[in-house]
Amino acid sequence: MSDNQLIITKDGSHSLFSQKHGVSYHSKYGAIQETQHVFINAGFQHKTPTTSLSILGIGFGTGLNAFMTFLESKKQEINVNYIGVEAYPLSMETINEFNFSEILKEEESAFQKMHELNWEKSHALNDHFQLTKMKMMIEDIDFKNQFDLIYFDAFGPGSQPELWEEPILQEMYDALRVDGVLTTYCAKGSVKRGLKKVGFTIEALPGPPGKREMTRATKMELPEIEIEGDNSKGGFINVDVFSKDQAAEPIKEAIQIIQEEISNGFLSIKFNTNKTGKTANVKILGIDGNVLLDKNIPVTPTAQNLDIQEISNGNYFVAIKFGDHIKTSLITKI
Ligand SMILES: C[S@@+](CC[C@H](N)C(=O)[O-])C[C@H]1O[C@@H](n2cnc3c(N)ncnc32)[C@H](O)[C@@H]1O
Repeated sequence: MSDNQLIITKDGSHSLFSQKHGVSYHSKYGAIQETQHVFINAGFQHKTPTTSLSILGIGFGTGLNAFMTFLESKKQEINVNYIGVEAYPLSMETINEFNFSEILKEEESAFQKMHELNWEKSHALNDHFQLTKMKMMIEDIDFKNQFDLIYFDAFGPGSQPELWEEPILQEMYDALRVDGVLTTYCAKGSVKRGLKKVGFTIEALPGPPGKREMTRATKMELPEIEIEGDNSKGGFINVDVFSKDQAAEPIKEAIQIIQEEISNGFLSIKFNTNKTGKTANVKILGIDGNVLLDKNIPVTPTAQNLDIQEISNGNYFVAIKFGDHIKTSLITKI
């Protein structure tokens, strides 16, 4: 018996039921409807207007996501570089059964061609659409700052929990450029928490028919933070949290531990960002780890003074937390 069984979903489009994973490739309420809603509307269209998009398709499978993206790029005249990752390619015999072209009123040839192309090579499907199919495990992905959009379409956490945990979500975060977006049909709490933990800002959006919610995760730009010490002594601390120029470097490696002296009782903090409306948390800790000050401050592009006059002279740690990134410095109050 074949591992995959052809099924018809509620909008009339085909999908497969995977015996191995015990789940279908798409929503039983409508394969085309789901791809349109989760990946095209919440992903592709969310990133437009633009002239070009670099897209990573996690789980190439039936090719439906790639095919509908191809049609959308043609309609909107957007240049797309699409990389589809798949460990278990389907046979042409299975592919030839799908009714996607018929329902989407598109010549069968484009869909077929997409599947016939050699793996591991980049091919132009037309003037706008470049496709590379990579036969590899999702677990082996190691892209860096390369994509504007990720369609995260693995089988659900119920059947493949390891693909929805932090190590893979971290790979997805790293694969995106700043402002890049990941969309998925999944709205499970632990997955949303995992996405947040690796640095994403997440939105819960209405799901496709049959599903209350879906998730969109964005790799937001983080501000550069400067901690100014005693200005009168020319002390000036620059904690480089993250900058676009360093985008190729993992954020955590950009952390610096810096010493400074404070003699006027005020710790001056400045965020090098144009964005406001966010909050950062500042903590002053004693060397023994005692928390002496814990304050949320607004992220503003102008310097603000934090009063630490109540704190006696000595050595302290200052820790600034923005999102999931923490920067620490050692300060000496004299
Ligand atoms: C939910 S299906 C979606 C497929 C595709 N997006 C589509 O429109 O048909 C998940 C896909 O991920 C593939 N897959 C599952 N585990 C994988 C792994 N560890 N590495 C690479 N691909 C995997 C499956 O073979 C399947 O094609």
